[in-house]
Amino acid sequence: MRTRIVNIKRLVGVDTHHKLRLQGKEMMELGQVENAWLLVEDGHIAAWGTMEELGLLPPAPVDEEVDAGGGMVLPCWCDPHTHIVYAGSREGEFVDKIQGLSYAEIARRGGGILNSADRLHATSEEELYRQATERAWEMIAKGTGCIEIKSGYGLNTADELKMLRVIRRMKESLPVRIVSTFLGAHAVGRGYSQPEYVDLVIREMIPEVGRQGLADYIDVFCDKGFFTPEETAHMLEAGAKWGLMPKIHADELASSGGVVVGVAHHARSVDHLECMADAQIETLRGSDTMPTLLPGTSFFLNMPFGPARRMVDAGLGVAVASDYNPGSTPSGDMKFVVSLACIKLRLLPAEALNAATLNAAYAMGLSQEYGSIAVGKVANFFLTKPIPSVDFIPYAYTTPIIRQVFLRGKAWK
Ligand code: NIG
Ligand code: FE
Repeated sequence: MRTRIVNIKRLVGVDTHHKLRLQGKEMMELGQVENAWLLVEDGHIAAWGTMEELGLLPPAPVDEEVDAGGGMVLPCWCDPHTHIVYAGSREGEFVDKIQGLSYAEIARRGGGILNSADRLHATSEEELYRQATERAWEMIAKGTGCIEIKSGYGLNTADELKMLRVIRRMKESLPVRIVSTFLGAHAVGRGYSQPEYVDLVIREMIPEVGRQGLADYIDVFCDKGFFTPEETAHMLEAGAKWGLMPKIHADELASSGGVVVGVAHHARSVDHLECMADAQIETLRGSDTMPTLLPGTSFFLNMPFGPARRMVDAGLGVAVASDYNPGSTPSGDMKFVVSLACIKLRLLPAEALNAATLNAAYAMGLSQEYGSIAVGKVANFFLTKPIPSVDFIPYAYTTPIIRQVFLRGKAWK
């Protein structure tokens, strides 16, 4: 199957550098071709060029031609941190927060993650799949083409496995690329002391997840009031025995050692970082770990924003993700995340777009195949309505810009 998109006002995110991630000043490298065409063959990007050149090429037969009509084409967003398998919603806590309770206070009262664990326990696997799939389609319609999804609302072995089976079914049934992360250590499950629960994660959950091949990554909520760096290290080491690479929650509530333990265990990413101390910039330098900011969470919880600008100025690369979850940010809108990355993290539009595409793909181990417009990569991209410029995308922060989303070369919207 060959599809050609023609009359593209601007083909954005064209990658001729073949880097797996962009760091420091490289984050400004956002390749753009004006008045372009793009050829897709069997779900992959086969070629691109300018309309002027196309007229000079010998005519090549295609099965389908799409006229972009002056719209732009960008690589789909990659969202490397979500919790979209959950039951129901938690708007009651939203109101509690407006009335002055903090995220940590709500968690201490048995709300928060435990509230979602209770709801998930009472919800069938079929219904969970239905709700999570609806959220995934909402994200696809907004231009997301790769999604990392975590467990972590089970908090006992049976319910954690139930969540991971839902993610596996989504992987198999949806056109979007999904990676799966085991987050048994999201909170201490009801009925366990903290040491008992860590023991359960290490001795029972991780081996079972490993045996059944249910996860690609392992995550731990390493933070003040949740799991310590020492507990985190033990769980990550247990996960490594089953080939689970870490992608961890760190420094959301306090600068609490998560970045150090993540980098020491070769984490693919360390995520949140709202309270990260500048000293951790040195910890991250020279590592393979992608610092991943979740500005939607800071926005929704009315908390500090992570030091993305200082990290990029210091030569690091950063990624952004939605963190779509029922407690701290019930939204998977990556265009809004890109706007927040500009407005609140002080990234320039080109940097923010790279943070949400190539670097986000890197943060889930997919940047060889996704995250930019390059020959051979999977044809996950979206076509915009006519827009005046690339900067308009984060600027018009609630304006829908998408005309069509293509996943593996097929139009889905
Ligand atoms: O990434 N920080 C930990 N976990 C989620 C929140 C989960 C919840 O409140 O349900 C997060 O923000
Ligand atoms: Fe999270």
